[in-house]
Amino acid sequence: MTTAPGGGRYGEAVFRPEQAGEGERIDFGALAYDDITMARLRALGAGPGWRCLDVGAGTGTVSGRLLDEAGVTSVLAVDRDVRFLTERPGLDVLEADITAPDAVRGRFRLVHARFVLMHLPEHERLVAALAGLVAPGGVLVLSDAVDLTSDRAPGTPYTTVIRAMWQGLRATIGTDVSWVPSYPQLLRGAGLGSVAAEIHVPPLQPGSPISRFWADTWERSRAAMRATGLVDDAALDEAVRYLASEECAALSAGMLTVWGRKAGEEPSR
Ligand SMILES: C[S@@+](CC[C@H](N)C(=O)[O-])C[C@H]1O[C@@H](n2cnc3c(N)ncnc32)[C@H](O)[C@@H]1O
Repeated sequence: MTTAPGGGRYGEAVFRPEQAGEGERIDFGALAYDDITMARLRALGAGPGWRCLDVGAGTGTVSGRLLDEAGVTSVLAVDRDVRFLTERPGLDVLEADITAPDAVRGRFRLVHARFVLMHLPEHERLVAALAGLVAPGGVLVLSDAVDLTSDRAPGTPYTTVIRAMWQGLRATIGTDVSWVPSYPQLLRGAGLGSVAAEIHVPPLQPGSPISRFWADTWERSRAAMRATGLVDDAALDEAVRYLASEECAALSAGMLTVWGRKAGEEPSR
């Protein structure tokens, strides 16, 4: 189980939704990853007739694109704070803590969660709970971050700060990406079949959505990162400048997406 040593939670000490600019920060992440996510969801068959669940839906970009581009029948968008989500035909919004028992009821042809479980305790139990919400023949699709700063990664300003970020988030809100590469086995363990996974690493180019996402994320996690003792304000400022400059030559954290199918007949459309 991954709990923060201080017992903090996502959206409290860090990434508070009421803090100005938090919706924009999530949108920078969405801009970096939505096309990849949508391509995978459509390749898995998301389309007309599908009833979908988007867990930790954030600003609702994936929920909206499922409706507008894939033409799914409905999406239930769930988040612990739904201020960035607006109901519309086909889109239902539910404010709920997904870690609570029976937070969501029903069965869905697609259950999707992106950059959510890495921030939560008891990821193994949550994978099983989300698998339980998949209808027979339906698919569970989960995406989270993979840290690519191995011991041999060159010591750039980016590398130093991203390491401090993971350590600081772990200490304050329990974020843990160390288990993310074991997702395929976790989905098999939850009883799903045809399990497969892929990783996308967006290019860190000056002014790109992913570079702006990291700069915003560091700004919001400054205190947690300084508390690690690995960085100070000067190192953080230098890393933000580095990301925005042509000097930048580093590998972003990637997004691992894993999927698996539940046995049984697909409901007729
Ligand atoms: C990093 S954002 C990702 C948003 C969206 N999935 C995306 O990829 O653009 C994490 C989201 O998970 C939500 N979240 C965090 N803990 C949650 C919980 N216990 N139950 C439901 N939602 C939660 C946050 O409020 C936030 O909207």
